[in-house]
Amino acid sequence: MDKFRKILCIGAGYVGGPTMAVIADKCPACQITVVDVNEQRVHAWNSDELPIYEPGLKEVVERTRNKNLFFSTDIEVAVKEAGIIFVSVNTPTKTFGEGAGMAADLQYWETTARTIIEYAEDDKIVVEKSTLPVKTAEAMHKILESNTKGIHFEVLSNPEFMAEGTAVDDLRNPDRVLIGAMQTEAGQEALRRVVDIYANWVPREKIKTTNVWSSELSKLVANAMLAQRISSINSISALCEKTDADVTEVSEAVGMDSRIGSKFLRAGVGFGGSCFKKDILNLVYLCGHYGLPEVADYWEGVVKINDFQERRFVKRIVASMFNTIANKKIAVFGFAFKADTGDTREAPAIYISKMLLEERALLRVYDPEALENARKDLAGFEEMVEYADDPYVCAEGAHAILILTEWREFKTLDYPRLFESMSKPAFVFDGRNILEHKKLYDMGFNVYPLGSSDMTRV
Ligand code: UDX
Ligand code: UDX
Repeated sequence: MDKFRKILCIGAGYVGGPTMAVIADKCPACQITVVDVNEQRVHAWNSDELPIYEPGLKEVVERTRNKNLFFSTDIEVAVKEAGIIFVSVNTPTKTFGEGAGMAADLQYWETTARTIIEYAEDDKIVVEKSTLPVKTAEAMHKILESNTKGIHFEVLSNPEFMAEGTAVDDLRNPDRVLIGAMQTEAGQEALRRVVDIYANWVPREKIKTTNVWSSELSKLVANAMLAQRISSINSISALCEKTDADVTEVSEAVGMDSRIGSKFLRAGVGFGGSCFKKDILNLVYLCGHYGLPEVADYWEGVVKINDFQERRFVKRIVASMFNTIANKKIAVFGFAFKADTGDTREAPAIYISKMLLEERALLRVYDPEALENARKDLAGFEEMVEYADDPYVCAEGAHAILILTEWREFKTLDYPRLFESMSKPAFVFDGRNILEHKKLYDMGFNVYPLGSSDMTRV
């Protein structure tokens, strides 16, 4: 087999796993191996219980696994055989030293590069899938080229834009595939090979090729701009709550302007997920590094509004429940950072729950997919937090229900039944604006929609 049809992906996480599964499905002529240092994760990918939940993923994996898609911990053999190596290891925010709390921690990336050098025996194309600060490919290129075996590594950037919960659909029908390469002959040749993989199912006009730096930066900017829209509407939600405007109406009216567009204008408890905050902080750090403090401050504002939104939500709860929630039972509906995923990384629910626990509230959490992660996120608070497998058990005897994730099932629950079982007065704080507020009010709830006036009788 042509060695460029042998593909390796290092990192079997939320990005690497689904991306490679879809490539395997769409390119039967390619043979793909996904390796990870985490044995348990690899084992899970090889079992019936995949390590991540994504609609449609199981079917794709079952169709391709052990045919042209393999999950393994044997990085040595996989590196030797592959012509193209995708790197999809995590790049968390640094927690120590220069740039702590802002810059990306590249230690996994560098370790990976050194592992590739150790086992490689011939030239390879190395493709960054991880989101990395601009100019990392250059550093990576230098590390890889420092090998003493005379091997040439061509480093490309191919950031992934899929969103969780819709990963498989996004990968099958992407808005665009972005691939950045060096402007050299070898760079362009490598670029053609990677373009050819995607061209198996993505129309050519949607495959955008750029230089490496533009590609790396575009990923940070895309996430920063998406998050910026959320912070923009969330900032307006605060104003709406003080006045008679309704943020949903404002959002719809503004979004009807085709120049603005309607997507990503849903006000809520704040954005979460593994990427937005990390990528914006990276951008902020980069701007600071290049002597652009005004630009850094501008983007930092997006994260500050997000923190403000979470704090504001908790303040409203405490204020409306007679300024104390100590020892009051609160039902938390939804812990995942968004619907259709069990992922809780940077979920607003974590921060909101911890603030409520500081106020000594007693929490009972329900989420259809994320309970296991929620337990880890709230480890140490076992005495004050319970977990329920069922929303009706969750709300029993509670003073308030908080909607923190926009799971569809929350819209169709039997609210009269929930109301009956709760302590009175019963409160609903709809942090995602998905419920029918007037109906709930008529049932007897005190209703606090996000970004519009309270509907309350106390
Ligand atoms: C990660 C980054 O968070 C994101 O910035 C980037 O765009 C893509 O990679 P994700 O796939 O969601 O996203 O991360 P995660 O689910 O943590 O997966 C990374 C995997 O890499 C883990 O399974 C980890 O065990 C593995 N890994 C990490 C290695 O195999 N080797 C290492 O040296 C480090
Ligand atoms: C994001 C980007 O969308 C994706 O392109 C990138 O590859 C990874 O980061 P993801 O984090 O999976 O994807 O989810 P996304 O749908 O973007 O939602 C992020 C957060 O914003 C969630 O907490 C979501 O609830 C919130 N959100 C989204 C809002 O609060 N309002 C909106 O209008 C949209």
